[in-house]
Amino acid sequence: MRSVSTAASNATEEVQLGDREFAKIAVYAKKHFGLSLSDNKKPLVRSRLSRRLRSLQIGSFSDYLDILDDAGSAEERTELLCLLTTNVTQFFREAHHFETLRDEVLPPLLNAAQNGKRVRIWSAGCSTGPEPYSIAIVLHALCPNAHKLDIKVLGTDIDPVVVRQAIAAEYGPKDLAQIPKIYANIVTGGGSLAPRLPDEVTSLVRFGTLNLIKPFPFSGKFDAIFCRNVAIYFDKETQQNVWMAFANALTPDGFLFLGHSERLSGPALQRFRGTGITTYQRIS
Ligand SMILES: C[S@@+](CC[C@H](N)C(=O)[O-])C[C@H]1O[C@@H](n2cnc3c(N)ncnc32)[C@H](O)[C@@H]1O
Repeated sequence: MRSVSTAASNATEEVQLGDREFAKIAVYAKKHFGLSLSDNKKPLVRSRLSRRLRSLQIGSFSDYLDILDDAGSAEERTELLCLLTTNVTQFFREAHHFETLRDEVLPPLLNAAQNGKRVRIWSAGCSTGPEPYSIAIVLHALCPNAHKLDIKVLGTDIDPVVVRQAIAAEYGPKDLAQIPKIYANIVTGGGSLAPRLPDEVTSLVRFGTLNLIKPFPFSGKFDAIFCRNVAIYFDKETQQNVWMAFANALTPDGFLFLGHSERLSGPALQRFRGTGITTYQRIS
């Protein structure tokens, strides 16, 4: 039977997390999200999940695990993932990748697009959207009629809450101030209007929910994939599976951009060559 604690008695205390319960949560997080929770994460897990247990008025982690095992608990699983990861992001984060995109990746693709070629760029683990919209801003700056060509940016994340925010594209002045000055005209319309993302930019981007550790549902290939600051949470085996899946999802000379503390490893090293800081190009 579920033990229900009173909110008053437990308002600030952390719920006890035994080694066996922590091990079960770690197995669960790996199986469903590919997350790696080593023993040194136990205090973080206890602290973040204690708050959740208190708000659900659940008195023990065993009871919480029962809820997660319940087939109808998809929402709680998502909640758990959100508590264990971070959605931190910003426009033009790790700006050098957007320079490579502008100077090396896009020019040949845009030439081909003018002649009807399909161009697809994927922001995998896009959080609330600044990454795919930054890609779209660069696209629009290089090719103002991009929205009329067969060019699309796809933003996906496992967390439906951030995907909804990304679709809404409602960013405050502080967020939009992260956009480099060379693109200022795009967000202000060239005048003194309050900055916003214009339709020509937002219409280049589509969003969806997608768990990167599950088989990808795409039939077509991507010309470039941004997967930055996502696989950092995965264990080595899961990372290597995802790198291989990206190799298979890219066009033969497609580009892969990783986060600043992420590196390719394992069999995928045979499929890519490094071309810059955490930047790789497919070779086979
Ligand atoms: C720190 S944010 C990175 C956002 C963006 N890529 C950037 O670098 O600014 C990490 C995102 O990865 C998502 N994520 C974590 N595990 C995932 C998985 N298995 N599949 C897809 N997305 C995942 C999280 O929901 C979160 O929004």
